[in-house]
Amino acid sequence: MRSKTMDARLELTLDEMKDLGYKVVDTVVNHTANQGSKLPVSLASREEMDHMFLEEAPEYPSDVNQVLDFVTENVLEKSSIVSHPKFYSFVPGPSNYISVMADTLATGYNIFSGGWTTSPAAAELEIVTVGWLQKIFGFPVKKGGGIFTSGGSMANLTAIATARRVMCEEDFSKAIIYLSDQAHSSNIKAIRILGFRKEQIRIIPTDMEFKFAINKLKNAIARDRIEGYQPFCLIATAGTTNTGTVDPLTQLAGICKKEKIWFHIDGAYGAAAILSEQGKKLLKGIEKADSLTVDPHKWFYQPYESGCLLVRNSKWLKNTFTEKPEYLRDVEGNTSEINFYDHGVQLTRRFRALKFYMSVKSFGLAAFRKAITYNIQLAEQVESLLRESEHWEIISPATLAVINFRYNPIVQKLNETQLDNLNQYISKKIMLSKEAVLMTTVLNGQIVLRMCLINPRTTMEDIKSTLELCRQFAMEKYPD
Ligand SMILES: Cc1ncc(COP(=O)(O)O)c(C=O)c1O
Repeated sequence: MRSKTMDARLELTLDEMKDLGYKVVDTVVNHTANQGSKLPVSLASREEMDHMFLEEAPEYPSDVNQVLDFVTENVLEKSSIVSHPKFYSFVPGPSNYISVMADTLATGYNIFSGGWTTSPAAAELEIVTVGWLQKIFGFPVKKGGGIFTSGGSMANLTAIATARRVMCEEDFSKAIIYLSDQAHSSNIKAIRILGFRKEQIRIIPTDMEFKFAINKLKNAIARDRIEGYQPFCLIATAGTTNTGTVDPLTQLAGICKKEKIWFHIDGAYGAAAILSEQGKKLLKGIEKADSLTVDPHKWFYQPYESGCLLVRNSKWLKNTFTEKPEYLRDVEGNTSEINFYDHGVQLTRRFRALKFYMSVKSFGLAAFRKAITYNIQLAEQVESLLRESEHWEIISPATLAVINFRYNPIVQKLNETQLDNLNQYISKKIMLSKEAVLMTTVLNGQIVLRMCLINPRTTMEDIKSTLELCRQFAMEKYPD
């Protein structure tokens, strides 16, 4: 029996803790093992959700088992499954069970991953795992640095803040930043958060392959110099969200070096592909970045939240983010002992390095290489399959496991508006069927279906059954 004293201390008895803990683990294990046979989509209106959950904060206790059952049934089981084999949209989150358990441990021990003094081993594991990533990406391991963040958005924000500090110091009124029209929206968000004006942002068009148009970039830089601006940062993308395209990294690195511009690469989506032979070729030049965003909660198969920023020189982070308030003077430590609160935005930080450490140690990098290679090859096989059919048109070929296509039956001779409506219709019907998540994007003004195939548990059979469903919905509109 729980006593009043225990309540006041927010404690459970030993048996209650175990009971709750085992139930939680059972719930997660059941979900993990059976998710493939569930429907990946959950849809609900705000009214329905309000009806289910809206209440005043309860003053008095409820049985935690009942609360857990309610949450499992109505929250967890009513969320779309981003790690489902048929969740093809946005960037899926395939995750892995070892990291889920690692996150549980990190939370269970409530590790403060901000300063060395409070958790030297946690700081050391972040140094070690960031070092692994630096080696993987060809960054200078000794001099270089990095930090785990909540995700790619925060890594990009941290990168641009660092670039601004190093390149502009206090005055950034004339500073100009360059990115392509395919760069991820988190970069623009970061630029705005950092207080740059609209006139300081140059969005450079991409070429036919959705890559940075080099000549247009060179012209823009030249014009800005003539007009007295300070070109200070270029953001390239290694694996665009739309098409998986990698910008011409080596060429861009050359331009940045010559023009003394900070070279940031947003590899949140695609950088992890360096672990495969094919990805390694495509990502040549990534090692030349001044800063690189990688996002382990995408293609390094980590659960949310896990992003990472790597930089060529760890001092850049330290010089950008260090503050020395009097209440932290006792824990400053010596210079080799990194306080990660001095290398990024957050003071109090979760222990994100643990899941990366435990999953890489337990599976080994070779398993990650195999999974990523499988993903890339699967997308290529899907491309071949679609090309064989007279109903499908490839809009952007399989690149780093992303493929864009549309339903376009040759015999029907549909016009562009009809094709847009048809493919939007297919995507919507798929969603409503709850069988798969296959959303659209817009490429060159056309509405297309986009598949991002980074789940190592997605099979060709999954894809064939989804395409068959697409075809059935298409036939409702345009029977053969
Ligand atoms: C290229 C790219 N950059 C940045 C982000 C943002 O990352 P996050 O959602 O982890 O904040 C994404 C997300 O899809 C992305 O694809």
